[in-house]
Amino acid sequence: MHEKFTALTPALYEYLVAHNPAPDGVLRELAAETAALGPISMMQIAVEQGVFLTFLARLLGARRAVEVGTFTGYSAISIARGLAPDGRLLCCDVNEEWTAIARRYFARAGLAERITLRIAPGSRRCARCPARPRSTSPSSTPTRRAIGRTTRSSCPASARGV
Ligand SMILES: C[S@@+](CC[C@H](N)C(=O)[O-])C[C@H]1O[C@@H](n2cnc3c(N)ncnc32)[C@H](O)[C@@H]1O
Repeated sequence: MHEKFTALTPALYEYLVAHNPAPDGVLRELAAETAALGPISMMQIAVEQGVFLTFLARLLGARRAVEVGTFTGYSAISIARGLAPDGRLLCCDVNEEWTAIARRYFARAGLAERITLRIAPGSRRCARCPARPRSTSPSSTPTRRAIGRTTRSSCPASARGV
């Protein structure tokens, strides 16, 4: 029978990683510091997922993004790097210790001005930002409608310039 999906074999994964851009020094050092936390470090996204997040944000032309669950900041840096030059990222997390690491690396990556980190549950702070589309034209894809465009007036984070 025809297989619908391509299995991610070790060989394919190796190829994928080898053909992705390597993380820069900031992300490498962040990953090393996160690894030093012990088994909890497995919460961090993988290097290739970070590359994908940057790509996705850039592809969408995203200017605003919300992240719920920032941990030590690897995914936040990856998203923020893909945003438009005036883009802003709002991060929510409930853990002070892990996000203190994130804050240091946001600064090191030159992103401190573009990322706002709130120590609060995502449900309370962030989920009030409905992903309302600016346009409901047929060319507006479901992904764009869901992720890409939130109207300034509908999002409290946007109203605060985040
Ligand atoms: C899997 S980790 C996130 C990994 C992160 N995206 C990265 O790439 O390194 C999950 C994070 O969600 C946070 N978290 C758990 N419950 C939360 C909540 N209700 N609101 C916001 N963050 C929460 C945890 O403190 C933890 O840092």
